[in-house]
Amino acid sequence: MTGDERSVLHIAGARPNFPKLGPVWRALERRGVRQTLIHTGQHYDDSLSDSFFRDLDLPTPRLNLGIGSGSHAQQTASLISALERPIAELKPSIVVLYGDINSTLGGAVVCAKLNIPTAHVEAGLRSFDRSMPEEINRVLVDTLADLLFATSPDAVANLAREGVRPGSIHFVGNPMVDSLLHALPRLDAQTAQELTRGLESYAVVTLHRPANVDQDASAAESVAMLDELSRLVPVILPLHPRGKQQLESAGLSDLTRVRMVEPLSYLRFLALVREASLVVTDSGGIQEETTALGIPCITMRPNTERPVTITHGTNRLADPQDVARLAGVALSGLWQTPHEPPPLWDGRAGERIAALVEDFLAKSLR
Ligand code: UD1
Repeated sequence: MTGDERSVLHIAGARPNFPKLGPVWRALERRGVRQTLIHTGQHYDDSLSDSFFRDLDLPTPRLNLGIGSGSHAQQTASLISALERPIAELKPSIVVLYGDINSTLGGAVVCAKLNIPTAHVEAGLRSFDRSMPEEINRVLVDTLADLLFATSPDAVANLAREGVRPGSIHFVGNPMVDSLLHALPRLDAQTAQELTRGLESYAVVTLHRPANVDQDASAAESVAMLDELSRLVPVILPLHPRGKQQLESAGLSDLTRVRMVEPLSYLRFLALVREASLVVTDSGGIQEETTALGIPCITMRPNTERPVTITHGTNRLADPQDVARLAGVALSGLWQTPHEPPPLWDGRAGERIAALVEDFLAKSLR
């Protein structure tokens, strides 16, 4: 890649980035745009990274920086330091950043200092909760990005309120939904059947947010929630490595109606969710996937940066103490959901983003 040719560099680093990257990459490829991928290596386990590359048919990264885990300051500092040289050498015309993880922030800071334009996919989401590391990343990345691609009208409104230039905000829909629709015919139903053998109905639970698993007290509340929920319905729990030890110390292994499994690949996880009676989660992306699939979702958080999944989807917020009551509503078939899906969640977000990126490249050549 050289500075005098149109070129796009994508930076991704952890599980939630990968389903957003796929549709954008493929749409730019169809347009014949030169592109390169850097994987920061923030996630490195097969179940959190390589399996997603296989399931989503993602390109092989040109570089994997092998950043790995660390405190927020250490990880972010390593990302900034490791990204500077390859970005300066590649001299891309624009860098596309995804979501709200530390790798997204690292890329935004480096590009801003190198004076290289950036596009942020999933701009404008706000939980208004600065105790979430992702919220800090979102605010900072959106301040630095040149093109802001929003997945919902509330995100557009947030950016406008923060004074972002209207011409740089684009409402494009949700590339997570593009990936989901693309994957539906290929979901790994066999693995899902094996994991749920003998069960008539089941709930899927995922928990990994620091607020729910990092401290002894919150881990104990999460385990109490699982205990109560599993008395209503058997639970399948694909467990992120973060917090595993804490949840086990809080008594997770004593819960006989909770089947704990390793984190699942994309095609396995969605096959499991598609047939579930309900999902309980603290993830961002799963709130969107359950809305797209029409599965009741209880988000165990005090807030969400994705309110469109409540106003136009199947999502409800709940304290750990209130999850079982809401699960009862879902199991009795009385879960109310709006008729209208979120606007533009139609599987064409990648195309819209690619068109806007191409337009940006054409203008920057003039
Ligand atoms: C990161 C994102 C979060 C996203 C989540 C999805 C940030 C601030 N957070 O959180 O938004 O929802 O990914 O998974 O970027 N670990 C492994 N193997 C790995 C990676 C991590 O075992 O491949 C363990 C390590 O013990 C590590 C811990 O998980 O310390 C946390 O990893 P980290 O990348 O810091 O953040 P996540 O909790 O994964």
